[in-house]
Amino acid sequence: MNILRIQGGQSLVGELEVPGSKNAALAILSAVVLAEGTTVLHNMPDITDVQIKASLIERFGAQCTLREGSLYIDCSHLYNGECDQETARLIRTSFYLLGPLLARIGRVTLPAPGGCKIGARPVDLHLKGLASLGAKIDLVHGNYVATTDGLKGADIYLDMPSAGATQHLMSTAVLAKGMTTIDNAAFEPEVTALADFLNRMGARIEGAGTSKITIRGVESLEPCQFRIPHDRVQAGTYLLAGAITRGDVTVHGVFPEHQAGLISKLKEAGALVSEGPDWVRVAANNRLKAVRIKTMPYPGFPTDMQQPVAALLTVSDGTSVIEETIYESRTGHVPELNRMGAKIRLEGGGRTALITGVEKLKGAVVEASDLRAGAALVLAALAAEGESVIKNVHFIDRGYERIESSLMNLGARIERVASADMESSMLQTEPGG
Ligand code: EPZ
Repeated sequence: MNILRIQGGQSLVGELEVPGSKNAALAILSAVVLAEGTTVLHNMPDITDVQIKASLIERFGAQCTLREGSLYIDCSHLYNGECDQETARLIRTSFYLLGPLLARIGRVTLPAPGGCKIGARPVDLHLKGLASLGAKIDLVHGNYVATTDGLKGADIYLDMPSAGATQHLMSTAVLAKGMTTIDNAAFEPEVTALADFLNRMGARIEGAGTSKITIRGVESLEPCQFRIPHDRVQAGTYLLAGAITRGDVTVHGVFPEHQAGLISKLKEAGALVSEGPDWVRVAANNRLKAVRIKTMPYPGFPTDMQQPVAALLTVSDGTSVIEETIYESRTGHVPELNRMGAKIRLEGGGRTALITGVEKLKGAVVEASDLRAGAALVLAALAAEGESVIKNVHFIDRGYERIESSLMNLGARIERVASADMESSMLQTEPGG
């Protein structure tokens, strides 16, 4: 168990290039099993969710080797392996292996998914779509057992534009006989990245990035080389680090259109935002203003930026409102930010946060409850007066590659303390905490 120790009050200034996208990498790591042979994925993010996913596909016969940031995955010999529930429950996208493995080897047993505790996160849309493609799935003692007499194309309508269901069903339909359409599909850039990867393997997908995707099934797919696109959520988090510390941060390798929701709100709040073809710059010279935010499926304001942006709004001038429409309990950051002096009140069963801006937060000992709540605490600690200690850093490591070195390069006073010396470092802070 590590902790992050942060001395707040430094304005962050500088430029950085964010790593590959967690959510694109995880979706593509499900699809790699579709092709016999060795696929090479470049610009893989060095984060724990990806490491867990790679170890999961190895349970089914894949062989993964990481070499200089590229992951070599040999899927020549796959079988219906055993995957323990504990490992599979660590990440939600373990479940997204079900369709592609079924398409490749005809039967698969997989535990029900896990992931950050931010809501119920059902998989009914996945199961309904897989059944319409010809999968027979039973839930037996917490494991999904799937078989098929052969997958056939189908017309699928998603009751809601679920990114995961769109990715999962697209990655299954590519080897189904005939045509498949996915209506009310998700637009997320990670869906488009997955479609690009599958088409690189020889799939015939059209319409990714729109609400209607068509997939013409093929007999087989070929392994390929593919570069994982940059992580838009890590990018947005570092832009917020520049804003909350009244600094000046430029993030390279990202597309402004993928940050449209965040950019529009930062401009509305009074931040100085400039953008180029593959970079975005955010500077803030004085206190920003309160704004209203409502999370929506892409291209709306992204739910993954909701908790990080809440940190910025705790020190903005006025009362902000954030309405979370995607997840029912993405609020783990609220009690911890309030411990730092923020004034956040939850309403609407936790779906709405009313944030009364304060001049300054105060450093404290706080605990990350999930990935993006942890990111929010880091941002708050960077701006807070005095020292903060953030526990449960493993949540942050799920989706941020060496967050402390990225922030240190921008001028932050931050260090990671390993568990061994944690006790002594905690003693120094506990009383004043
Ligand atoms: C992906 O989750 C991302 N995770 C999430 O990022 C992200 O918040 C989410 O998309 C929305 O953009 C990965 O890609 C690994 P959904 P996913 O299916 O696929 C409901 C992060 O912090 N739903 O679009 O699970 C569900 O309950 C993570 O990086 C159903 O009701 O998202 C939720 O309310 C967190 N039935 C909503 O849809 C289903 O069958 C969004 O889920 C599937 C989903």
